[in-house]
Amino acid sequence: MGRYDDVYNAWREDPESLWAEAAKDIDWVKPWDRVLDDTNPPFYRWFAGGELNTAYNCLDRHVDGGRADQAAIIYDSPMTGNVERLTYRDLRDRVALFAGALRARGVGKGDRVIIYMPMIPETAVAMLACARIGAVHSVVFGGFAPNELATRIDDAKPKLIIAATCGLEPGRVIEYMPLIHKAIDLSKHKPDGTIVYARPEVPAFEMRQGDMLWDDALKDAEPAECVTVKATDPLYVLYTSGTTGQPKGVVRDNGGHAVALKWSMKNLYDVDPGTTFWAASDVGWVVGHSYIVYAPLLHGATAILFEGKPVGTPDPGTFWRVIADHDVQVMFTAPTAFRAIKQQDPKGEFIGKYDLSKFRILFLAGERADSDTIQWAEKQLQVPVIDHWWQTETGWPMAINPMGIEALPVKYGSPGKPVPGYDIRIVNDANEEVKRGDMGAIVVKLPLPPGALPTLWNAEQRFRDAYLTDYPGYYKTADAGYMDEDGYLYVMARTDDIINVAGHRLSTGAMEEVLSQHPDVAECAVFGVADQMKGQLPLGLIVLKAGVERDVDEIRNDCIQMIRNQIGAVAAFRLVTPVKRLPKTRSGKVLRATMQKIADGEEFKTPATIDDPAILDEIRVSLEDLGYPKR
Ligand code: COA
Ligand code: AMP
Repeated sequence: MGRYDDVYNAWREDPESLWAEAAKDIDWVKPWDRVLDDTNPPFYRWFAGGELNTAYNCLDRHVDGGRADQAAIIYDSPMTGNVERLTYRDLRDRVALFAGALRARGVGKGDRVIIYMPMIPETAVAMLACARIGAVHSVVFGGFAPNELATRIDDAKPKLIIAATCGLEPGRVIEYMPLIHKAIDLSKHKPDGTIVYARPEVPAFEMRQGDMLWDDALKDAEPAECVTVKATDPLYVLYTSGTTGQPKGVVRDNGGHAVALKWSMKNLYDVDPGTTFWAASDVGWVVGHSYIVYAPLLHGATAILFEGKPVGTPDPGTFWRVIADHDVQVMFTAPTAFRAIKQQDPKGEFIGKYDLSKFRILFLAGERADSDTIQWAEKQLQVPVIDHWWQTETGWPMAINPMGIEALPVKYGSPGKPVPGYDIRIVNDANEEVKRGDMGAIVVKLPLPPGALPTLWNAEQRFRDAYLTDYPGYYKTADAGYMDEDGYLYVMARTDDIINVAGHRLSTGAMEEVLSQHPDVAECAVFGVADQMKGQLPLGLIVLKAGVERDVDEIRNDCIQMIRNQIGAVAAFRLVTPVKRLPKTRSGKVLRATMQKIADGEEFKTPATIDDPAILDEIRVSLEDLGYPKR
C-alpha cells in the first residue's frame, strides 16, 4: 500500500481528524466548537462555531508572515500587452481600500454584490474586498448575456454591482455597461448602483443614477479592517447551469472552503508556498474562484491571472511564453485549450521556443480529457499530465492523481482516484452499489467534505431535490461512470441535460426554453454532439408550427441570435435545423439521448417505449444535412 492508500484509509476511519489537522493551517479568530456538525442530516456544516476572515487568510496573514514583497498575483494580458505584478502587500492594500469604498456605499456583512468583470486584477480585488467585509460576492461570467445576468440579479438581490467598462475578446471589445443596464432594466430587483472600473479601451460610458467610477469610489475611502465571520457564513454564491433556465446558486462557506482549498494546494496539486501556479480559466467559473484567486492566495503561492486565449493571442505559443516568463511550475486548464493548441501547432514547434525547465505538472479538468490530447501534451511537454474531476458544486477536486500525496500510475481515460474527503460510489437506480467495472450513477456518500456546497442560495428544497433525493444517503453528481478493479474512476457522461462546451457548463434545457419562445417554433430539442475541438456543441432541432412559410434560413438565424442574446456567445449555438416531428416515448418524453447517438454515429438500441420508430430515420436525414455524424 502506498501513501495515497494510507491517507485515504486514515480519512475513512476518522474523517474529522484529517480536517481538524488541515484546519490548523488557517488562522481562526475563534476556533470551532465542532469539526463536523451532523445534528441536522442531510445537512452538514463544517467547523461550526468557528470564526475567521477569508481575505485575512489570503492576504494579511502572508504580509505579516514575511511574504509582503512576494508576488501574489501576476496579471499577464496578451490582449493589451500589459503585465502587472501585485505583491501581497499591494494586493492587501488595494483590497482594504476598495473594501472601504464598498463599506462607504453601505455594503456590509451578508450583503450580496454581483461582480461582472473581465480577467483583470481589479476583479480579484473586488472579490477579496467583499470577503474582507463579510459581503457575499457573486461573480457572473462576462460571456453571459443580459438576460442571464438579470436572472442572477433577481435571485441574489445584490446591494451593488461591480463592473468594468469592457471585456476584450480577440478582435472585439465588449462594452459591459450597456449589457448591465439592460440586465437591470430586465430584473425586478434593482441594486443601489454600479461601481465601474474604466478600462482604457472604453474610458467612458453612459452613466445612470447610482453608477460611480471605481477611482471616484476610492477617493474618500478609508482602508477597511477584516470583519470576522462565522465559518458557516457564505463567502460567495456562484450560479451554475441547472436543468432549467433558472441557474443554481451554489453557496460556498468561509471556513470549510479555506481549509479544503489550502489543503488541496500541496496534497493534490503539489504546489509549495512561494511558487507560481497558473489556472488558465476565467474568474467567472469555479476554477477561477478556487484556483486563480482563493487557493493560491490561501497557500501563499503566486497566482497568474491571464487575459487571453490559448491560441491566437498572438499564437499557440502563448501558454509557453507565460510559463517561461513567470516561472510557472504547475498549470491547470481545460482539455479544450490543449486541443486548440494541438490543432494549430501539432508538432509543438512553439513549445521549443521557450525555456520550460521549471514547469513540472499539467492538470486538466472541466470535461472529459481524451487520451490523444493527454498523450500529445505528455510527449510535447515531458511532464506528467493529470486529468482530474470535479464540479462547481464541490468547489475542489473529487477525483485526482494526488501528486502531493503520491504520484499514482496514470490510466488514460480516468481522472484518477477518490480524493480523501470524498467517498465515491457507483450505484444503480435502486441505490445499490454495482460491481467494479459496471456503469452506474456516480454518487458521493454524505457528508460531503469541507468546501463542497452546503446548500443552494435561498433554495434549500431545490438543493434536496437536485442532489439528495434520488440516492438517499448520497450526493448525486449527475455524472455516470464506473470504477475499475484498482479503484480508478471513469467519468463517462452526464445523466441530465448539462453539456460541456469548450469546458463551459451549459444547460440544453435552458436553450430549449429560449427556442420555444420563437413564434414559429412549435417544439424543439437541444442536445450535445461531439466536437473535436470544443468537446461538445449544442445542436437544436425545431418543429415549426403548421402553416409557417418563412424562409428556413431566416428562422435558423433567428434561433441562433436568440440564444446568443438570451444566454450568450459562450453557448456557441450554431447548429439548428427544422424537422417534421421529434421522436418520443409513448408517454411523450423526447428521446434526446437517442438523437445524440445518431448524431455522433454511435450504436444505439431503439428504445422499446418509442412511439413511432420511423421518426428516427427522418432525424437521421436531417442530421446528415447538418453534417452529422462527422466522418
Ligand atoms: N466575454 C464575452 N464573450 C466571450 C467570453 C467572455 N468572457 N468568452 C468567450 N466569449 C465568446 C467568444 O468570443 C466566442 O464568440 P464568437 O461566437 O463571436 O466567436 C464565443 O463566446 C464562444 O467562445 P469559446 O467557446 O470559448 O470559443 P473561442 O473560439 O473563443 O475559444 C478556446 C476556444 C478553446 C480557445 C476557448 O474556449 C478556451 O480557452 N477554453 C478553455 C475553457 C476554460 O478555461 N474553461 C474553464 C474550466 S477549466
Ligand atoms: P463544472 O461545474 O463546470 O465544473 O462542470 C462539471 C462537470 O464537468 C462534471 O459534472 C462533469 O460532467 C464534467 N467534468 C469535469 N471534469 C471532468 C473530467 N476530468 N472528466 C470528465 N468530465 C468532467
